[in-house]
Amino acid sequence: MKTENTDKIKKFNSPIRDVDATIPWEFDPNATYSEITLDDKWLKLKPDEYHKYRSDWTNIPKSFAHIDFPLHLDIETTTYCNLKCPMCPRTQLVEQGKFNENGFITRDEFMKIIDEGTRYNLRSIKLNYLGEPLMHKDIAWQIEYAKKKGVIDVIMNSNGAALNEKNSESLLRAGIDGLFISFDAVNPKDYETQRVGATLGRTIDNLYKFVKLRNEIRPSCQVRVSMVMYDDPKWMEQYKALQIMWKGVVDAVGYSWYTERDEQISGEYEYVPGFHCAQPFHRMFLKNNGNVTICCVDDKDEVIVGNWKLEKLFDIWNGAKYKDIRHKHASGEYNKIDMCRKCYLPVSIKQPGINQEKAAE
Ligand SMILES: C[S@@+](CC[C@H](N)C(=O)[O-])C[C@H]1O[C@@H](n2cnc3c(N)ncnc32)[C@H](O)[C@@H]1O
Ligand code: SF4
Repeated sequence: MKTENTDKIKKFNSPIRDVDATIPWEFDPNATYSEITLDDKWLKLKPDEYHKYRSDWTNIPKSFAHIDFPLHLDIETTTYCNLKCPMCPRTQLVEQGKFNENGFITRDEFMKIIDEGTRYNLRSIKLNYLGEPLMHKDIAWQIEYAKKKGVIDVIMNSNGAALNEKNSESLLRAGIDGLFISFDAVNPKDYETQRVGATLGRTIDNLYKFVKLRNEIRPSCQVRVSMVMYDDPKWMEQYKALQIMWKGVVDAVGYSWYTERDEQISGEYEYVPGFHCAQPFHRMFLKNNGNVTICCVDDKDEVIVGNWKLEKLFDIWNGAKYKDIRHKHASGEYNKIDMCRKCYLPVSIKQPGINQEKAAE
């Protein structure tokens, strides 16, 4: 085991958090993301199988239950993007010449993933990792194919800059179940510094049009706005302003913490007793280059558990490497995995009242 280098150990001290150490802390491995619900009409329209899936999503990681196949796959359908957001690991990797910017999954590849997954009762897919899923010409076809094969929850993150009435209608008619728009600020200056290449007014207009069509065509599709949060009160103010701005339009507003992907800056965090991550127990990440990884922060493919272009997904999920990772998390030894020592999640999750509003995806 690599020993911890105490010089590099970082604490997660946040000026925006009023942490009361006397509040008992109950660890929830799913609390990786915070959101405020503005409207839950969409949820009431979901079928029973959706609620069963969400309950499994929450409970399986808590009990360390082993399932034969992941509940959810994150599929990097394209690595291409129309924006250059400065905080995004994609932008950083492109600038360093370490990223294939133009990967597009083929229909045969997509069908291979969905066909195998649905044989094992795959419940959910997200159609992006790094890259903008609206940039793939097959996006509506991908949604339709997965829905026809019985995937309950087909969702994606998008920057929303390329949404228009035509593609909005196609996504909704194809059967999209959730659209999560990355939208960081209510004023043009902050928004356009974060979402380089997009304009605030245009994205607002795009989203309003999408929601109008959603209400007519597929009201069960959840629409959420989410931002990247920083240790700076200014961004918490933006989060509050976003809730006012989008009330009566979208269903939820949320945030996930900024994660530092630059190795020159990122270090290791202190060990948090009792922490284990939910992700190795219920989801798996299929990168456009074929690599299969275990976690949303692994943009550099540090922990590769297989290659989906060459191997069966079932064999990867049940392979020795994956089992060893799950065992380390289940036995409180997540810090034996180099990548997990560098992850902010154990320390950020430990803040009472923060990240506990709702365990979402
Ligand atoms: C990489 S993007 C890909 C999908 C799409 N292009 C978008 O922007 O929503 C997926 C999510 O990661 C978020 N994100 C980007 N850089 C991040 C960072 N350094 N830390 C945390 N989240 C980040 C984005 O805001 C977005 O919500
Ligand atoms: S739009 Fe998404 S993928 Fe593209 S640079 Fe911004 S965060 Fe990254």
